[in-house]
Amino acid sequence: MIPPELQDARIPEHIGCVMDGNGRWAQRRSLPRTQGHAAGEEALLDTVYGCLDLEVRWLTVFAFSTENWRRPPDEVRFLMNFNRSLLKRRRDELNEMGVRIRFSGRRDWRVPRSVLREMDAAEEMTAGNRTLTLTMAFNYGGRAEIVDAVRGIARAGLKPNQITERAISQHLYHADLPDPDLVIRTSGEYRISNFLLWQIAYSELVFMDTLWPDFRREHLFEAVRIYQGRRRRYGGIAEGS
Ligand code: IPE
Ligand code: IPE
Ligand code: MG
Repeated sequence: MIPPELQDARIPEHIGCVMDGNGRWAQRRSLPRTQGHAAGEEALLDTVYGCLDLEVRWLTVFAFSTENWRRPPDEVRFLMNFNRSLLKRRRDELNEMGVRIRFSGRRDWRVPRSVLREMDAAEEMTAGNRTLTLTMAFNYGGRAEIVDAVRGIARAGLKPNQITERAISQHLYHADLPDPDLVIRTSGEYRISNFLLWQIAYSELVFMDTLWPDFRREHLFEAVRIYQGRRRRYGGIAEGS
């Protein structure tokens, strides 16, 4: 159910989320950083339930960036294993809720084969669902996605005048993914960190101080409330001006 303080008519169709602050959450509790990642699972699930409450159709979450390989090997290993086990633990529940799970990012040699297998299994199991599409940006970089799109265009042999914004959009990892209406970043950092660079041209950005493991659907509702207070102009002028 849509909370009464939100307007049903202006629910974002697609929400993007930079799930940041796991390490700091753990450090504040004198725990290893990896415990912060583990605590992020509850936040992710509650956010999915929040999107289902609001009838949001698309949720894209940043789980691992192309730059996150720079972290210590133990943390990278943890994140790989953790994402694999999360998929295994949660895919039935997500499937029952009508969630279609998809991945965005590079399937390169650094991603362990066992992780790729779980990703494929989750995608396959949930492929027929349409209530909510949960895209996990994993080994994802916005610049890498644009490079990969341009490579696809070159392979397809498009002529210079056929290279349009539409052509680039169609060669991104998922041609059917709408641009996000709202992008939320937690943990009080005011940056994009290479998330969906092409798609966020006109997204509304909401930065919140909450650390990701503390994030719950109430925070999501608050971000949507802020979004509903914004006037989107797309370079034009506001309605009624
Ligand atoms: C986000 O939390 C999770 C990933 C990047 C995988 P961080 O691990 O970046 O947490 P902070 O920013 O160090 O607190
Ligand atoms: C962005 O967070 C990536 C993910 C949330 C997966 P980072 O913690 O990696 O970003 P920076 O390094 O603070 O910019
Ligand atoms: Mg971070």
